[in-house]
Amino acid sequence: SQDAGPFVPGNADLTELREAAAGCRGCALYERATGTVFGEGPAAARLMLVGEQPGDQEDRQGKPFVGPAGRLLGRALEEAGIERDAVYLTNAVKHFKFTCKEGSKRRFHQSPGATEINACRPWLVAELENVSPEVVVALGAVAGRALLGPSFRVTRQRGVPLDCPPFASIGAPEKAQGPPAGRIVATIHPSAVLRAPDRDAVYAGFVSDLGVAARLLD
Ligand code: URA
Repeated sequence: SQDAGPFVPGNADLTELREAAAGCRGCALYERATGTVFGEGPAAARLMLVGEQPGDQEDRQGKPFVGPAGRLLGRALEEAGIERDAVYLTNAVKHFKFTCKEGSKRRFHQSPGATEINACRPWLVAELENVSPEVVVALGAVAGRALLGPSFRVTRQRGVPLDCPPFASIGAPEKAQGPPAGRIVATIHPSAVLRAPDRDAVYAGFVSDLGVAARLLD
């Protein structure tokens, strides 16, 4: 079965994890993507943002949130009073999943499924264990499912602080023991703002959810 677990070195720091992730073959996505897009930001960050997967620009540049959704996220963070450089930014899935349509060179985003989310989760857990953030923001349904399991629903659970399971038990609730490892605030994905017809209202809701996370750190 597909699993990044065997590629994740034990007791590794973020630099070692990033190097190992570059060679991950834990699922099939590495075959077509340019490369692994690992998380980025200070190891001492109090806030971790988890997106879905790299997009076209992120895949080309090897960095998370450098495309259109990333620029919108940057503006929203600023409005919510969160300094982007102080945050650890990563994705639930670390390779770009896409399809190509006939006669077009464009690569079209495809949502990762349970197979890729589950396969890639060991990298996310290793990042959480290293950074040990007080607050995690789940950007969209894929991030929410990666962190909280398949029953997660953005519409029902966004904008309210939820307990973050102990990091080692994320994706394996039967292993859960001990107190929650901080809080999770879920919200929509920034590309949902870009696609929304009523963009201003949807953007305001996004900034408001990020503000909930910001105030948990006050
Ligand atoms: N969307 C994401 O979820 N992550 C990125 O890194 C870029 C766009």
